[in-house]
Amino acid sequence: MFLNLVDLLSGISIALDFSEIDIFGVPTNHSRRVAYISNKIGEKLNMSHEFIFDLLALSMLHDNGISLTILNDTIRKHSSIERDQFELIQEHCIIGETNLQHFPFLTNAKNVIKYHHENDNGTGFFGIKGDQVPLMSQIIHLADFIDLNFKINTDLTNRSLIKSVKDYVRNNEAILFSKKVCDVFFEVAKDSSFWRGLHDSLIAIQIKETVNKYVFEYDYQDIRKITKTFSSIIDAKSEYTQVHSASVSKDAETMAKYYNMGIEETNELLMAADLHDLGKLGISSEILLKPSSLTEEEFSKIKEHPTIAYECLKHIAGFENIAKWIYNHHEKLDGSGYPRGISQEELDFNSRLLTCLDIFVALQENRPYRIGMTLTQTFFTMQEMVDTHKIDGNIYYDIKKVFSNQA
Ligand SMILES: [Fe+2]
Ligand SMILES: [Fe+2]
Ligand SMILES: [Fe+2]
Repeated sequence: MFLNLVDLLSGISIALDFSEIDIFGVPTNHSRRVAYISNKIGEKLNMSHEFIFDLLALSMLHDNGISLTILNDTIRKHSSIERDQFELIQEHCIIGETNLQHFPFLTNAKNVIKYHHENDNGTGFFGIKGDQVPLMSQIIHLADFIDLNFKINTDLTNRSLIKSVKDYVRNNEAILFSKKVCDVFFEVAKDSSFWRGLHDSLIAIQIKETVNKYVFEYDYQDIRKITKTFSSIIDAKSEYTQVHSASVSKDAETMAKYYNMGIEETNELLMAADLHDLGKLGISSEILLKPSSLTEEEFSKIKEHPTIAYECLKHIAGFENIAKWIYNHHEKLDGSGYPRGISQEELDFNSRLLTCLDIFVALQENRPYRIGMTLTQTFFTMQEMVDTHKIDGNIYYDIKKVFSNQA
């Protein structure tokens, strides 16, 4: 499978931006701006394509620890939530590092996320200093702090703002930031187009243009490592869904074998299962974890999650089927599902299969408002859904046949 990995990453970083909306109330484009600044520094340093590629990926994902519930809880204790408060929590470095441990980096990227808040003088979270800090972490640290401390996303015609950013970097040389990275930053900062590119309205295009230079061919194994990485980030959002995506993928694998699906179709199905709830990153944890029934407005928020995922994934070449099946995973045969309310004529086999597997797994899991069903209760409920023409009967019987034997 030929895939521009950065396409995938920038697609997924849109979902991470949505999780910023959840926490901060606004999309901040923080990850993308950090990626943009880091990339400019990496290129000025004449680093290899592999290095720059990994740097882009890591800077785009540097705050991936954000989606975890415990982190959200810590943040919510603060009365007014600012991005810099969240960055002050050490856990996001450790969680973020762990989440990416199976990511197929091209260079040795170990500990880059863990150490992205280390200061040059050794006063960071882990107390390491100078060259002990991986170069990529040094770069991301500078980019991160510039974006956190200055409103560089709106008006970069403002000369005095540019001057204050430069003063800030100069004043923190050999304190927060390494001299090497500061020097390169000043080179980058001479170019006025660098500053213009940071604008909220341009940043997405800038990132896309930049990353189009770095296209590597990945095999399925590697792409799957990435979708699995995101499946853990998604699952980590709530204690009730800690293994939900992973379970749907596991059951999808069993069913793909049962149906003798070809390798390519199986791969696509498993990646769709990994990412099917990607859009939930954009739904407030307060709604997802609500113990009582949802208001109409809250439910309409939840209903957006397939659309959010579709918007993130639809532009990725090679992901057409995956995006479609995910878009459809809450649709029902009789047209009563969401988000579009389409009906059976428009629902292909794998959309129906993913829907059935999602329901099969979800019914057996605990939720804030109910405990998980037994296998027998699950089959009973699914049979009702077949009888009322909600889900595909043939697929349901196959699932029942396969998983009854496993019980
Ligand atoms: Fe951070
Ligand atoms: Fe950050
Ligand atoms: Fe879903």
